[in-house]
Amino acid sequence: MARIAYINGRYVPQSRAQVAVEDRGYLFSDGAYDAIPVHNGHLSFADRHLDRLDRSLSELRIARPMSRAALLQVAHELIRRNGVRNGGLYIQVTRGVAPRDHKFPKGVKPSLLMMARKWKAPAPDLLSRGATVVTMPDQRWARRDIKSISLIANVLAKQAAAEQGAFEAWLIDDGGMVTEGSSTSAWIVTATGELVTRPDGTEILPGITRSVVAEVARDLGLTLQLRPFSREEAYAAREAFLTSTSNFVLAITRIDGKPVGNGKPGPIVARLREAYLSVARA
Ligand SMILES: Cc1ncc(COP(=O)(O)O)c(C=O)c1O
Repeated sequence: MARIAYINGRYVPQSRAQVAVEDRGYLFSDGAYDAIPVHNGHLSFADRHLDRLDRSLSELRIARPMSRAALLQVAHELIRRNGVRNGGLYIQVTRGVAPRDHKFPKGVKPSLLMMARKWKAPAPDLLSRGATVVTMPDQRWARRDIKSISLIANVLAKQAAAEQGAFEAWLIDDGGMVTEGSSTSAWIVTATGELVTRPDGTEILPGITRSVVAEVARDLGLTLQLRPFSREEAYAAREAFLTSTSNFVLAITRIDGKPVGNGKPGPIVARLREAYLSVARA
C-alpha cells in the first residue's frame, strides 16, 4: 500500500510529497514536531501530545496551523488511508516559507506536515535480552523541553551509540548527571527499589510515555523519585529502562559495557511495560 502524507492541506502519495526549498524548517530547523502512538487503530494520549506540540509552538512563537479538532480529523483520516493499526503519527509544523533571513518573516503561514506509519513490533531478542546504552556528553541546546525539529546533536549521539553497537546514548550533563536518551527518557530502579527519573525542566523533553509510566508506577504502589541521577548511580542500579512513544518501556541491561543488576531484564520493568501497554491500548 503506497503511503499517503498530508502536506499543507493536501493528501499526497508520500513518495511524491514536496516542500519548498525556502521552507524555514529546511533552511533553519525552524519548527517543532510531535509523534503520537497508534494502538489498535486509535491514537493514544493524543491530548497530552497535542498539548506538548502547542507548548513547543508557543515557545517558538509559531502560529498553530489549524484547530485541534481539525488536526485530529486529518490524523484519523491519515491513519485510515495508511491502514495503520499499530504505529505512529508524525506531526511537524514549521514557521513557513519565506526568503532566507534569520528574523521572523511577516505574514507567513506555518507549514504543516503529517505522516502515519506502521511500526514493527520490537525484535523479540531486544525484549528478552534488553537494550544496551553508552553514555556521552549532552551537547544539545539549552531548551530541550521544546520538541524542536533541530535534532543534530541527538542524531550524532544516536549514531555514536550505534557505532559502538549500542541501542541508545544516555546523555550526561556538565555535573555528571544523566539528562535523558537521544530519543528516549531515562530511568533507573535503585538497589532499594525506588524508581528515579529526572524532573521536567529545560534540560529534558517532558516525555509523554514517561508521564504515563509515572502514573502507572504510582498505581502499582511503586515509589517514584523525581531527581537527577548520576552515571555512577546508573551503573549501580538494580534495573534500568527507557521510555518513549515507539519503544514503550524497554529494559536496559548494559550501560557502558557494565551489566545492570544481573544483566537481565528485571521484574519491575516487565510490570511497568505491561501496565503501560494496557493503558495505551485502553
Ligand atoms: C530527546 C527525547 N527524549 C525523550 C523522548 C520520549 O518522549 P515520548 O515518550 O513523548 O515519546 C523523546 C521522543 O521523541 C525524545 O526525542
